[in-house]
Amino acid sequence: MTQEKEIILAVETSCDETAVAILRDGRELLSNLVFSQIKIHQQFGGVVPEIAARKHLEQVNLLISLALEEAGLTFPQLSALAVTYGPGLVGALLIGVSTVKALAYSLNLPLLGVNHMEGHLYANWLGQEQITFPLVGLIVSGGHTSLIEMRGHGEYLLLGQTQDDAVGEAYDKVARAMGLGYPGGPLLDALAREGNGEALSLPRAWLGEGSFDFSFSGLKTAVLNYLNRASLKGEAVNQADLAASFQASVVEVLVEKTIRVARKKGLPTVLMAGGVSANSSLREQMRKRCEQEGLRLYYPPVEFCTDNAAMIACAAHYRYLKGERADWYLNAIPQLRL
Ligand code: KG4
Ligand code: ZN
Repeated sequence: MTQEKEIILAVETSCDETAVAILRDGRELLSNLVFSQIKIHQQFGGVVPEIAARKHLEQVNLLISLALEEAGLTFPQLSALAVTYGPGLVGALLIGVSTVKALAYSLNLPLLGVNHMEGHLYANWLGQEQITFPLVGLIVSGGHTSLIEMRGHGEYLLLGQTQDDAVGEAYDKVARAMGLGYPGGPLLDALAREGNGEALSLPRAWLGEGSFDFSFSGLKTAVLNYLNRASLKGEAVNQADLAASFQASVVEVLVEKTIRVARKKGLPTVLMAGGVSANSSLREQMRKRCEQEGLRLYYPPVEFCTDNAAMIACAAHYRYLKGERADWYLNAIPQLRL
């Protein structure tokens, strides 16, 4: 007797990426499409929520059709539909949620709602099923910086989070002040590789003994003050050294706090997730420290660090296996927590 395959189609529209993916049995990616709006938002130096929502509306049905075509499937062959319902921009989220709800209702398919942060964590499970619990997850994105303890699938305990800017937000703001463009993370990362991280002494916010929270606004302000002073004095700024010093400060705090949590709570595995986990220095330093401490480390391939729907489908897969289903009251929740 052949076993029935589970095929989930997932939609992600929480910010400025319209994404659709189809995943078979939690591991086989049959289609993974991302329509990035970056070029549209670049001219404004950041994401404009109304434009993002409008573009999602234009793209989402087309992407769903293309994904099915690429996977060689039709709607009736799907087992379930999943969608990101928060956190994110409310207008943007609503496009995904209402589209997927309408499809699920008309096709009589099970509906699953996925938390975007959970999706980021589950990017690690795409093709990596041997990850074992308990573990500590470091979520670093444009909207979040959190340390999460996971003791099983779908079980989250928040251990620390940013008190002000998210780390990706700090990257984007500093990059904008340096005139690098949007999104600043990857540009600053590339520039930092050419600079000396010890050239400038920038602050590191440890927030007291034993705190697993983060703060990046002081560091951001220190960089802005440095740029202003140089401009007033007519002094040239070594952009690469500034980028490298900013990055060194960010990475040291992220890595050391993660290691401390792992040690204190006896968690043998570290998972990184979110757009900033694509950062070359963060990956390298975390790898080095985890090796020294005898911790196992996982992070997703670069294309699954930033927003995509494959990670949403993967998180939905584990919820589907548990028998979880959303009802027709599923709504966009901009401040949704894990
Ligand atoms: O996870 P993501 O795609 O969207 C959110 O959920 O926020 O993360 C986007 C963030 C942006 O702030 C972007 O600048 C940052 O991730 N980012 C990076 C790198 N690649 C993307 N930050 C630092 N270094 C990178 N290589
Ligand atoms: Zn994200």
